[in-house]
Amino acid sequence: MADSPSDTVRTAGWQPLSRVDLQGDPAVSERLLEALSCEGRVDRLTHGFHTYPAGLHPDAARILLEVVGGDSVLDPFVGGGTVLVEALLAGRRAVGVDVSPVATLVARTRTLLWPEERIARMRGQGRRITEIAKRYEDLPRDPEVLRLRDWFEPHVARELEGIRRGIELAPPEVQPGLLGAFSAILVKVSMRVSDTVPKRSLVHREPETTAFLFHKKVRELGRRLEELARAVPEGTPAPEIIDGDCRAVTPEPPVDAIVTSPPYPAVYDYVPLQHLRIAWLGLDDREGKVREIGARRAFRADRARALRTWRQDLGLWLHRSREALNPGGRLAVVIGDGVAASEPIDALGPLESEARRAGFQPVARASGDRMDQGWQQPRREHVILMERR
Ligand SMILES: C[S@@+](CC[C@H](N)C(=O)[O-])C[C@H]1O[C@@H](n2cnc3c(N)ncnc32)[C@H](O)[C@@H]1O
Repeated sequence: MADSPSDTVRTAGWQPLSRVDLQGDPAVSERLLEALSCEGRVDRLTHGFHTYPAGLHPDAARILLEVVGGDSVLDPFVGGGTVLVEALLAGRRAVGVDVSPVATLVARTRTLLWPEERIARMRGQGRRITEIAKRYEDLPRDPEVLRLRDWFEPHVARELEGIRRGIELAPPEVQPGLLGAFSAILVKVSMRVSDTVPKRSLVHREPETTAFLFHKKVRELGRRLEELARAVPEGTPAPEIIDGDCRAVTPEPPVDAIVTSPPYPAVYDYVPLQHLRIAWLGLDDREGKVREIGARRAFRADRARALRTWRQDLGLWLHRSREALNPGGRLAVVIGDGVAASEPIDALGPLESEARRAGFQPVARASGDRMDQGWQQPRREHVILMERR
């Protein structure tokens, strides 16, 4: 790949991306830079529904889908499903995999292609459940939920229990949407600071506002799903979303392209971050806790060992990705460097060499530094495009 000059670029949200480095096909690397430069909150269609950490920018997903081409796409680290939503909008067959049951729940919620009547039935159930939840008197009895009593005021826990019971009694065909709305409010009504900050802050919620918030979320989801259904070309198949470890899953039939953003090394613990939702939604995260790759906790426990494992994992998912691709298929990866024990972790070098070993050849790349607000330091991020040999 040929070098091109480094520069500072103003991104869409006017956040400077510095030390820009473009490699390979110049026209393609410019498009990758465009994807890397996307900034700012996007709330269109279902993208803004439900928080999910480290979501890919929807415009970046759209650009990368254009760059990789093809009629079908896989995201092996699907997270909240950003790539799938954009793939649906482009009329493509879309497959997603994630080891976190909350990720697949969010991705499923954001990609529900429901007819209007079903959305209306979901709204009706939302109203009914809200009325039950406002007056619900029983505290949860489930031991997993009881363990969380420090995170919720008692009246909030009662209202949540009412919502949970109400969803159980709703017709199964609308439960996925109701569960997505329930999940969307869980951290907000708790004392947890945010999805990614696991600290407690003592906040008070007025009685009945938890039930009202649920109702508001159901209506919001209904509106967003109607917009999504109108925007997706007719005949686009519903996405396939698989709960599992992408190192062990190969979608059938193979896909034309992969667009993905794997965990940056040592940045998040995606599965444990969701412990409130796991308990309230009755999900099973045991596999996810063991199979999650690049987890921050592994680097904290033993940096050298975690680095070796992370590199092996790169090789494993890249091999699996190659198997999932049709000949000539393209893979676009968005990844950033990590930091553990105050030492930076280079993501690019290992990714490129493991990709070559797995049978990919590089096409183009764009890299740049972006200020990480949480970390208060610049983080180097990369978009890499490769082709199956
Ligand atoms: C950076 S996030 C993906 C975000 C996604 N692009 C979005 O827009 O929401 C990385 C995801 O990788 C998932 N993950 C970690 N290890 C995995 C594995 N072994 N197999 C599948 N998914 C995994 C995490 O649960 C997390 O959801």
